Amino acid sequence: MMNSITSSNILLTLYLALIAQASIVVKRADSSSTSSASSTSSSPATISKPASANLTTENQALAPFQDGVFEFFGWTNPTFPQYHNSCNITNQRMINGALIDTLEVSSFARDRLLANGTSDEIYKRWFGDAPLFTVAGVIENTIQGVKDDLLFRCDDPQGGCAANPTSWWGYHVLNTTGETNFCDLFYSGKKPLTHICFEGTIVEVGPTLYAGIDLFHRYFHLDQMSSEGYIGEYTEELDDILALAQNNATYAVRNVDNYLYYLADVYAEAVIPGGCLGDLSEN
Ligand SMILES: *[C@@H]1O[C@H](CO)[C@@H](O)[C@H](O)[C@H]1NC(C)=O
Ligand SMILES: *[C@@H]1O[C@H](CO)[C@@H](O)[C@H](O)[C@H]1NC(C)=O
Ligand SMILES: *[C@@H]1O[C@H](CO)[C@@H](O)[C@H](O)[C@H]1NC(C)=O
Ligand SMILES: *[C@@H]1O[C@H](CO)[C@@H](O)[C@H](O)[C@H]1NC(C)=O
Ligand SMILES: *[C@@H]1O[C@H](CO)[C@@H](O)[C@H](O)[C@H]1NC(C)=O
Repeated sequence: MMNSITSSNILLTLYLALIAQASIVVKRADSSSTSSASSTSSSPATISKPASANLTTENQALAPFQDGVFEFFGWTNPTFPQYHNSCNITNQRMINGALIDTLEVSSFARDRLLANGTSDEIYKRWFGDAPLFTVAGVIENTIQGVKDDLLFRCDDPQGGCAANPTSWWGYHVLNTTGETNFCDLFYSGKKPLTHICFEGTIVEVGPTLYAGIDLFHRYFHLDQMSSEGYIGEYTEELDDILALAQNNATYAVRNVDNYLYYLADVYAEAVIPGGCLGDLSEN
């Protein structure tokens, strides 16, 4: 039994160790933190960690950003959008959880890409024979690139959430370069990454069912992250996405949805034996 330790068991053990360590740190923290998640514009990256034993509602919004979590996923300097003051603490807490999921899912993709290169079957499935530099750069920039033009808001400035309460998760605010609005449906409908493979196959449910992957996608509606549209939604249909990889790899590495399937495919295979991609011909 003991000899069946897999890398994912090790990862899980490390993760549990991290959590244990983090809670110890929290208990021992010296309350020197003075910043708080105020209701005005704020960014998780610029806020000190919450003081220990002071789990006010405000501080709870920062719980996903506990000490060590960036390093654990191998990111030295992840960057985040600002919050508009319309995102209350509850909204921020949920979005922060999704942001950490984005860091996690992207870290698996980065590590697999660097370890296995372009001959990897998962890489070939979604990016064909494209050189890896675009993919490596997009993943790195999405997590650690400058995001000073980005604003997350929660006040439905265009009324799209109110008009589409059962179908809109969020939207890019028209006539802005960097504003994304979250609808309440995002919080109730999108799943944590830990649910991967338990909601159906990736082909059945689509990668953006998972909040962290959905956020990765939302970034590309914003000019600063898409590099003014260099990365775009050229096609969202699975058949077309697969065809891009096979016949038009130059565009596969510029198409948002190729990234989303790649992230989900890599992650599922890493955490669940055999993954759960599903039947590619079914669609
Ligand atoms: C607890 O946190 C809140 C909000 O960050 C802060 O206003 C308050 O002063 C803190 N209390 C203590 C005892 O540190
Ligand atoms: C924050 O807003 C959401 C709606 O987006 C609401 O359900 C929630 O109760 C609000 N939380 C607080 C603390 O006001
Ligand atoms: C590299 O690919 C193999 C399968 O060919 C996989 O088992 C391994 O986990 C991959 N490496 C990483 C770091 O994902
Ligand atoms: C965006 O700008 C266009 C052109 O100025 C205008 O017609 C439109 O009403 C604006 N839309 C919103 C939602 O502000
Ligand atoms: C590749 O895909 C892009 C975007 O859909 C399209 O504009 C272009 O014509 C395609 N190129 C080829 C050779 O199919």
